Amino acid sequence: MAQEVIKIRGGQTLKGRVDINGAKNSAVAIIPATIMAEAPVTLEGLPKISDVETLVSLLEDLNIKTELNGTTLSVDPTQIQNAPLPNNKVESLRASYYMMGALLGRFKKCVIGLPGGCPLGPRPIDQHIKGFKALGATIDESSLTSMKIEADRLVGANIYLDIVSVGATINIMLAATRAEGQTIIENAAKEPEVVDVANFLNSLGAKISGAGTSTIKILGVPHLHGSRHSIIPDRIEAGTYMCIAAACGEEVMIDNIIPKHMEPLTVKLKELGVKIETGDDYVIVKSSQPYQSVDIKTLVYPGFATDLQQPITPLLFLANGPSFVTETIYLERFKHVKELQKMNGLITADRGTATIKPSQLTGAEVYASDLRAGACLIVAGLFANDVTTIYNVTHIYRGYTDIVKTLKNLGADIWTEQIEA
Ligand code: EPU
Repeated sequence: MAQEVIKIRGGQTLKGRVDINGAKNSAVAIIPATIMAEAPVTLEGLPKISDVETLVSLLEDLNIKTELNGTTLSVDPTQIQNAPLPNNKVESLRASYYMMGALLGRFKKCVIGLPGGCPLGPRPIDQHIKGFKALGATIDESSLTSMKIEADRLVGANIYLDIVSVGATINIMLAATRAEGQTIIENAAKEPEVVDVANFLNSLGAKISGAGTSTIKILGVPHLHGSRHSIIPDRIEAGTYMCIAAACGEEVMIDNIIPKHMEPLTVKLKELGVKIETGDDYVIVKSSQPYQSVDIKTLVYPGFATDLQQPITPLLFLANGPSFVTETIYLERFKHVKELQKMNGLITADRGTATIKPSQLTGAEVYASDLRAGACLIVAGLFANDVTTIYNVTHIYRGYTDIVKTLKNLGADIWTEQIEA
């Protein structure tokens, strides 16, 4: 069977403008959230990625009428049927777990396959379950492949999350929107995507306040109407292009972003010595090597995003001394390390910290183990000597709209090839 690979001949200087797409991690929550509306919904600014297509197809499995036209999705949930969803689509992406909160809120019942997603080590959903139970649901986990969640009534509750979790915060918010009375989520995640989902639900008539802080209040409502909503720009896609520009950009404008969301990365890149000019809705990034070595620790928002830990790592080979990257969210998010070693990168990882020493990278055959590892290999390949071939690129297409075309437009020597697997 043929598979696509991405090939990059490193060393080109990049110049031009990149328009950032809608946020993947907002879109993958808001598409399931449309289930909760009792009238048609239009979403604008969706990224053109395979995770969006998979979720749209899951909506269709529930007899929801959908029309995906470029970056706009029309959803008509008026004929929705609460069918079981224990299929391979659910298992193919993590965000399918938002179907749980949305279906529980709408129907007080759902049967759904267990969520999959990138292999980043253990990714439990105990906090989601804790929240659903606090709202009055019972969970049947007797099947090895699916879960049944149901409630006679959903009643608002005070829920303190043991771990700050984006997924649990959003999932509980979804179900609580249709619970009786008030729910308070304490120690909630503050990520911009949580705020975007709350804004979307409020546009349907929900009563959610405090999103973006650690205390979110949700006053349940009996009905939700339709609406039109625009997805926020993808701070991780934008951050990846900022890292690319820092590696080999003469001058790259990264447009249609919310600069405030970029601050944890912008500050770190400036510490390295990257030149960054910030406008109202753009940044202009210029490479200015050699860089200073820096230490990075991933944290929940507004700390340094775990999703940018892998894309920024190749820049540290361009620094004047050793740098340390500590991962606190997903301790096993280091599968890129072995691949960077194949490219002659002096990098090791031990107990949640990677050590990166100045290195001249050389093209090699490398494997994208997960989405952001794939982004990391693209950053590395763009400034490595010779040709880098990246396998398993479907991971990359799950999260980056037209990345090969975008980089070509900036002047990169990058192309795809079909090879026999
Ligand atoms: N956790 C638990 N129990 C839970 C939920 C989470 O122990 O019930 C732990 C996780 O194992 C992890 C930490 O809490 O160690 C944070 O997990 P979180 O729930 O915040 O992550 P998520 O919702 O599963 C989303 C993004 C990830 C991103 C993280 C952190 C989506 C679909 N995924 O995952 O995005 O890394 O938040 O910001 O929104 C990516 O885009 O590449 C990606 C993996």
